[in-house]
Amino acid sequence: MTCRCKSRFNAVFMKNLEWYMKNIYGKFKIELFNRLGNTVLEIGAGTGINLGYYRKGTDLTVVEPSKDMIGFLKEKARKSDIKLHIIEGVGEKLPFDDNSFDSVVTTLVLCSVQSQTKVLREIKRVLKPEGRFIFIEHVVAPEHTLTYSVQNVLQPIWKWLFEGCDIKRDTASAIRKFFPDAYIKNVRFNSPFIPVNYHIVGYGIKKDHSA
Ligand SMILES: C[S@@+](CC[C@H](N)C(=O)[O-])C[C@H]1O[C@@H](n2cnc3c(N)ncnc32)[C@H](O)[C@@H]1O
Repeated sequence: MTCRCKSRFNAVFMKNLEWYMKNIYGKFKIELFNRLGNTVLEIGAGTGINLGYYRKGTDLTVVEPSKDMIGFLKEKARKSDIKLHIIEGVGEKLPFDDNSFDSVVTTLVLCSVQSQTKVLREIKRVLKPEGRFIFIEHVVAPEHTLTYSVQNVLQPIWKWLFEGCDIKRDTASAIRKFFPDAYIKNVRFNSPFIPVNYHIVGYGIKKDHSA
C-alpha cells in the first residue's frame, strides 16, 4: 500500500495558504480571468483556489491528479455558481478532443508537471483556434542573484517535499515554444517564500491551428 501522507500534507498546506495566495496573486488573477471564454479547462486546480475568479456561468472542467486536492475542490465547488466537471488525471494526457476549449488556465502547475513540453502541447491541442492560455507560474531566478543561489541549495529537498515542484524551471522559454507571441510579464514578490519569489504572469493565444 502506498502512503498518501505527502499528498495529504501538500493538500492541507495549499488549503492553509489560500489566504496568502489570494493576497499576492489576486490582482493578477482578476485581470487575467476577466479575459476567459465560456468553456474553460483548468489544469492542476489544487484545492479550487481559483473558483472564485471565474465568471458566473462559466463551463469549467478541471484536471487534477491528487485525490486529496480533489477532496477540497469538491467542498469548494458545492458553494460556487460554476458549472464544474472534475476529472482525475494529468496535463500530459488530456482526455479531450482537439479544439475543445475557449481557454486553458494553469496557476503554479508547470513547476510540478513531469513534462512541460507534453503539457504545453496538450494545452495547445485542446484550445480552440484563437483560444487563450493564461498562466501564473513561479520560475528560476536570474543567475547570480541571491535567490538563484538559494534555489540551487533548496531544489532537491523542495522537489521531494512538494511532490516534484521544481523551483528552477525556465517556464517562459517552454511556453514560447508553443505560444511564440505570448505576453509574459516578469513579477518579483518580496515574500518570505524566497525560493518562489520570481514569477511569470501572462497569456498566449493559439494562432496556428495545428495542435
Ligand atoms: C502548487 S499546486 C497549485 C494548485 C493551484 N493551481 C493553485 O494555484 O493553488 C500544484 C498542483 O498541480 C497538480 N499537478 C501536479 N502534477 C500535475 C500534472 N502532471 N498534471 C496536472 N496537475 C498536476 C498538483 O496535484 C497540485 O494540485
